[in-house]
Amino acid sequence: MKLVSISENRDIEKRIAVTPEIAKKYISLGFNLSLPKNYGAHLGFSDEDFKNLGVSFLDNEEELINNSDIIIQLGLPTDEKMSLFKENLTLIGSLNTFLNKPRLENLKSKKINCFSLELLPRITRAQSMDILSSQANLAGYKAVVEAFQVYERAIPMMMTAAGTIPAAKVLVVGAGVAGLQAIATAKRMGAVVFATDVRIASKEQVESLGGKFLTVEGSENLETEGGYAKEASDDFKKKQEQLLTDTLKKIDIIICTALIPGRDAPKIIKEDMFKNLQPGSVIYDLAAVQGGNTVFTEVDKIVEKNGVKILGEANILNKLPVSASNLYAKNVFNFVSNLYDKESKKLNINLEDEIIEKTLIK
Ligand code: NAI
Repeated sequence: MKLVSISENRDIEKRIAVTPEIAKKYISLGFNLSLPKNYGAHLGFSDEDFKNLGVSFLDNEEELINNSDIIIQLGLPTDEKMSLFKENLTLIGSLNTFLNKPRLENLKSKKINCFSLELLPRITRAQSMDILSSQANLAGYKAVVEAFQVYERAIPMMMTAAGTIPAAKVLVVGAGVAGLQAIATAKRMGAVVFATDVRIASKEQVESLGGKFLTVEGSENLETEGGYAKEASDDFKKKQEQLLTDTLKKIDIIICTALIPGRDAPKIIKEDMFKNLQPGSVIYDLAAVQGGNTVFTEVDKIVEKNGVKILGEANILNKLPVSASNLYAKNVFNFVSNLYDKESKKLNINLEDEIIEKTLIK
């Protein structure tokens, strides 16, 4: 089968879907792999690195698309490129079904099989394919690094005969994949870390990383069977607001990661709460694209309110595109291997397989 990846819009996406390590694996599995010129050059992966493994390069993306059975990407390609897609083509990526519904409908009507990996079920067998976990883990790490970079004081406690600097205090809001990595990263740098979540199961995870869990008084467990969060009740929200308002007085840096899948981000840090933060405090809001966990978050801007800096980016993974691509490419390869029938050398779209059924856009 002919497998292809075409260039992303580099202004918004620096990650790539095939690295040399993974190209080798596709070729060993029996795929013919073709890429556009300079596919990974911006990440230090030269065309030569790929060619030495047996990858073909084409100048013309139209030719590439015409010569493909499977296209693997990060995001959905432009309408112009998609107009070249032919019937029975398979497109695999992180296609954002919420934002791209009409465009995906259009592909479906052209009989193109679209698989969107953010729809993967959180089951053991799908862990090696889980792009949300691999990418959010890196995002949680990088959010802490970015916030610490902007914070104008030291992070660890430093005690010398010449004087003492206290450790910075970090609050992580939402202890899912990104949040847990944020806790671990902040701890490694010597911060004192607090965290809160609506899922009671996360308390143990936070504590195992050395964080202090802030439990909302009398809270029920707001966890779905799939391990995600449910919308909190008004009573819970009021109690959480009070708990955070009191806690903020001692906090220097906040990392926001709270998310309810398929919804706008919950607004957790409200205008009034800013009065309790010290000037010089920093907030990194990973939920910026979904509207932000603070009332002041703006995408790709540093907003300043009462001396507090609020950061949030559309794609923080563009700041570590090599690590993110290495994991993403591996996750997609594991997904394709599960879809590929080695005997017939064809894709087997078996809807009885939960992984395939859940990710196929129907
Ligand atoms: P996740 O679903 O693993 O974690 C979200 C956590 O928020 C869950 O533990 C959930 O229980 C908690 N939560 C929900 N409502 C809450 C509330 N009211 N109070 C406290 N906790 C609450 O999600 P993941 O994968 O960790 O992603 C976190 C955020 O980071 C998402 O908004 C995601 O889109 C974003 N992200 C952003 C990236 C970027 O480049 N900007 C890259 C990767 C992730």
